[in-house]
Amino acid sequence: MIILGHDQSGSNAPSLIEAVRSWRGQLPAGESLALVPTMGALHEGHLSLVRAAREECDQVALTIFVNPTQFAPGEDLSEYPRTLKKDLEKARKAGVDLVWLGQAELLYPPGFSTEVIVPELSERLCGLSRPHHFGGVCIVVLKLFNIFQPTHAYFGEKDLQQVTIIERMTRDLNLPLEIVSRPLVREPDGLAMSSRNVRLSDEERVTALSLSTVLGQIVSSHAAGEMNVEKLLKDARSLLPAEVSLEYLEILDRSSLQPLQDLSESQDAVTCLAARVGEVRLIDNMALVHPQ
Ligand code: PAJ
Repeated sequence: MIILGHDQSGSNAPSLIEAVRSWRGQLPAGESLALVPTMGALHEGHLSLVRAAREECDQVALTIFVNPTQFAPGEDLSEYPRTLKKDLEKARKAGVDLVWLGQAELLYPPGFSTEVIVPELSERLCGLSRPHHFGGVCIVVLKLFNIFQPTHAYFGEKDLQQVTIIERMTRDLNLPLEIVSRPLVREPDGLAMSSRNVRLSDEERVTALSLSTVLGQIVSSHAAGEMNVEKLLKDARSLLPAEVSLEYLEILDRSSLQPLQDLSESQDAVTCLAARVGEVRLIDNMALVHPQ
């Protein structure tokens, strides 16, 4: 496994981009290249993307970069878990060909000012409390696409709004690659896997489980025939413990991310939420299953 960026200082950082370009240029013509962008602290959710990429593509590049432009001042950029040594071991075991460790000074040199914004989709849900977040995600993902020129890029449905925005950006800008989205991976008890879960205390970890329980409750009530969106959401909210500070809980159409009033309107409905448990902000979502 090639590692680019380890122990490199800021001064020779530009070579990190050239190094990717020359690696890319040496790949046999016609080979597929999968890019798996991450912020590290790798868990099974990330590794499920790597495994799918390994199966479906000839080459797999994994990037690890805690991207500052998607964090607002006061968010958890400095607390974001960093576990590089373990990450490299996991990447190696999962069969990654190249790991690239990004550097802020390389990607955002002095004078950097371009923005990439997918309005509307970025303003709702997580965008309400994090208005600059998806702009930061789009710019770093687009830069990675330009640097790596992958044929495929893998994203998790854990971040459903993120992958929907990236799909839209890719389509709108005619980017020559395929976006592959893969299912959300959970802990055995149901909690959505997240790099941020390690920041939960034991007590908060128990409280956090209520998030997937509540989404599961919506899915099962709907599968049993409840079609009233308001009632589904109201019943679910009443189940959340007081320690959960709910940011949003919605039932949406999967592709437009628009709220649904009537569940017969969409064949592809999903329920999603964001909440704070203590200091930790968590998100989760589940697809609704049509009543038989
Ligand atoms: P990060 O949170 O590290 O996630 C990297 C990728 O792993 C994303 O596509 C995310 O959806 C996926 N992922 C995370 N948890 C998952 C889970 N439980 N199941 C399935 N997939 C999961 O998302 C980001 O980083 C950043 O915003 C990034 C795209 C790298 C841009 O900086």
